[in-house]
This record gives sequence, structure tokens and C-alpha cells, in this order.
Amino acid sequence: MGGLKITFIDPRGNPVVCEAEAGDNLLKVGQAAGLPLEGTCEGQMACSTCHVVVAAEWFDKLTEASEEEEDMLDFAAGARRTSRLSCQIDLTRELDGLTVSVPATSNDARKM
Ligand code: FES
Repeated sequence: MGGLKITFIDPRGNPVVCEAEAGDNLLKVGQAAGLPLEGTCEGQMACSTCHVVVAAEWFDKLTEASEEEEDMLDFAAGARRTSRLSCQIDLTRELDGLTVSVPATSNDARKM
């Protein structure tokens, strides 16, 4: 089991390489690795604190964001074209090598 390598770039620009398995949730993997992903709404698409910026070469390999996710990303601090909510990304074999950046700041949309 295991065998997927996921790289998170932390807010200081340092790469953190994690082992994950198909079916793992990207937010949970990042949290387990100690990255500052709050994920305060626990995947309910209500907070945007799990926002990550996906490396451009990986963005198209992900299943598309739902409309709710797109709406929530509008609240995310420093959102870019390749931003996603990590709680909405479940890992598959095809995502072995995925690289995402964790932004320095996040907004909790529920507190805005
Ligand atoms: Fe709140 Fe992802 S954990 S939107």
C-alpha cells in the first residue's frame, strides 16, 4: 500500500514530501504532515482555509471543481487560477507526484 508521493510547498517555500495512498484526502495528508492547513469546516466547503495552489502541470489532471468549490475559492486569500480546496481532492494513482503550494495566509470565510 502507500506509494503515492505528494509534495507540499510550505508558506516559506520549502518542499515537504509526504507518502499517501489512493483514496486519501489531500487536506488530511497535508495536516498529517504538519502543514498549516486549518480545514476548519472539515470538508464542508464552508471555510476555504484548506486552500492550496496546484502546480500548473497538475491542475488539469484533477477532477474539476464543483460550482460550490469555485464560489468558496473566491473567498480564499491569494487565490490563483490553479487554486483548489484541498478537502475536495481525493488522491488517485494518477496523482502520484502531485505538487501543491500552501499559501501563507488563509481566510476563514465563516468569520468574514
Ligand atoms: Fe473548509 Fe475545505 S475544509 S472548505
